[in-house]
Amino acid sequence: MTDGRYRILLRPSALAFTASPTQDLLSAAAEAGIAVPSACRNGVCELCEARLVAGRALNTRTQQTISPAACLMLCRSQALGPLELENDAVMAAGQNSPQQMQATVVEVRPISHDVYRVELKLPRRRELNFHAGQYLSVLLPDCEPSYFSIASSPSAQHIELHIQAAAEWQSAQRIIDALKSADSVTIEMPHGKACLAAAPDKPLLLIAAGTGFAQMKSLIDYLRETGYDHPIRLYWGVRRQDDMYLQALAQQWQEDWPPFTFVPVVGDSEDNDWSGHHDQLVRAVLASGADWRNVEVHASGSPTMVYALMDALLAVGLPESAFFSDVLEYAPRQ
Ligand code: FES
Repeated sequence: MTDGRYRILLRPSALAFTASPTQDLLSAAAEAGIAVPSACRNGVCELCEARLVAGRALNTRTQQTISPAACLMLCRSQALGPLELENDAVMAAGQNSPQQMQATVVEVRPISHDVYRVELKLPRRRELNFHAGQYLSVLLPDCEPSYFSIASSPSAQHIELHIQAAAEWQSAQRIIDALKSADSVTIEMPHGKACLAAAPDKPLLLIAAGTGFAQMKSLIDYLRETGYDHPIRLYWGVRRQDDMYLQALAQQWQEDWPPFTFVPVVGDSEDNDWSGHHDQLVRAVLASGADWRNVEVHASGSPTMVYALMDALLAVGLPESAFFSDVLEYAPRQ
């Protein structure tokens, strides 16, 4: 027991959380950011059912003790000690398999000189689980799939994307035009292992370049919901001031969420090339004063930026297992 709380281990995902003796297990899992399918929260729908593998729990409806091998409803159970539970519907990070579906286009709106906010509504929303920080692909006829980070939290009703489409970028413009003219679009989701299936028990550094901010927004929205209270710093690097398309939102987070610090990193000059810009972002992160043995880093941007950052952080002592980025999966180093 730690701080009056019991450790609860979920199998097969190996996700763990703690619960106080007076708290229902569904709320305790949610506090840790672990999404367990649920609806009634009253022991009726059976969506939150789990099998007790080890330990003893209390059925709060009947006040009877539940022993190993029996099934329980997480919303109607309390821990009487450390527990091991089996629930196949809870997935570890990146273990949820992608599905194709038709999403309704709710909004396509410019939010800067070249970034659009896109909002999509999914069918059977409650049946689709994804983790904060995952991405989706938009599938248009006769086009290669286009991949975009999901900018919203898994609990949000709609999916939010930030799509950069400068006038001269034909392929991105084609996607924006298609989304503007269609009522619905085929998407495939969720993709990506650099995500959070539970809130980490340590400080976080989030580093984004350009529209890499979208992935960080999903993580931040999710962590705010879980009541995450370790220090969390967001570094957002852009080439020019007007590329920082949601700066006011990031500043707002800093004002109303005490653990959060926002560090904008704007290119030194109009002609700043991307490599100079990346150096500047990496230098800012290195100056954070983080304890590199006790921090988790999530990075989103181009492979050049992400690998420059990773090399610099591993050189100062960050363990490789504490660095997360989709780049490591889709653009692995040879
Ligand atoms: S949420 Fe319905 S039984 Fe637990």
